[in-house]
Amino acid sequence: MSGHDDLNFGFTPGDVLLVSGAGSGIGRAVALRAAQLGLAVSAWDLDERTVGETVRAISDSGGTAIAVTADVSDNAAVERGFAATTRNLGPIRYLVNNAGPSSAVEMPFDDGLLAGVGSVRRMTETWLAGEVPDGAAVVNVASVAGNFLGTESPWYCATKAAISGYTRYLATYRTGQVRSNAVAPGMVDTPRLAGFAASEVGKRSLQRNPLQRMATGDDIAYATLFLLSPLASYINGVVLPVDGGWLVAQ
Ligand SMILES: NC(=O)c1ccc[n+]([C@@H]2O[C@H](COP(=O)([O-])OP(=O)(O)OC[C@H]3O[C@@H](n4cnc5c(N)ncnc54)[C@H](O)[C@@H]3O)[C@@H](O)[C@H]2O)c1
Repeated sequence: MSGHDDLNFGFTPGDVLLVSGAGSGIGRAVALRAAQLGLAVSAWDLDERTVGETVRAISDSGGTAIAVTADVSDNAAVERGFAATTRNLGPIRYLVNNAGPSSAVEMPFDDGLLAGVGSVRRMTETWLAGEVPDGAAVVNVASVAGNFLGTESPWYCATKAAISGYTRYLATYRTGQVRSNAVAPGMVDTPRLAGFAASEVGKRSLQRNPLQRMATGDDIAYATLFLLSPLASYINGVVLPVDGGWLVAQ
């Protein structure tokens, strides 16, 4: 467990947080930690089984969560997911756009942009078109890739930079509705990067990281939850690296 069970971050218990990609890795960590902070969680994923496990873990420890099986790149599924969330939990105050394809997936550049940043926009605009409570906030999961580093693959690098650009647009023009920020994780120990730390390139990367380890899902989840929380009410439009100091040590 986290060792931070007394944290609250100023959240109002029962407020609703929606997180996509909640069946694994960073998204699952956000869901579990948000529930520990007293938020009601709408956990979304493509994978019905894994998101069901996330929700069961929350329910077993006394929290509130629902599972939504939805592909964030599918308009109709997104509309249905928002309707189901509001019907079951009430208006959504917090959104975490975390789901996105792995950089290892080979796909045409344009498809990658649609799947990556197109989905972040779709989720956000669908949410903002409905009833959004005061104090609403969104955090989009970008990456050090594209924002601070050039990496493979081309669509991944471009889409992560575009997510930050879209976040800055929201932070400038949509403040009547929402406060908007992004996190830029470095290397995170999730199923997606399984085996990376032991690989040659992984070892070389970790040697250049001042903290000499990958991030945990919780490292990214707590940064995300802080940016969403009322404690961060004057933080708007940042892209926060959560990378152990990897960037500054390059
Ligand atoms: N792991 C890292 O080192 C790292 C670094 C920087 C950024 N990120 C970003 O963090 C986010 C989460 O990565 P992770 O490492 O936790 O990945 P992960 O593979 O462990 O989990 C991703 C989850 O998202 C779901 N998902 C994927 N596409 C979806 C879609 N279209 N609709 C709904 N659900 C979908 C998957 O089923 C999976 O459960 C991604 O946006 C990724 O680009 C990860």
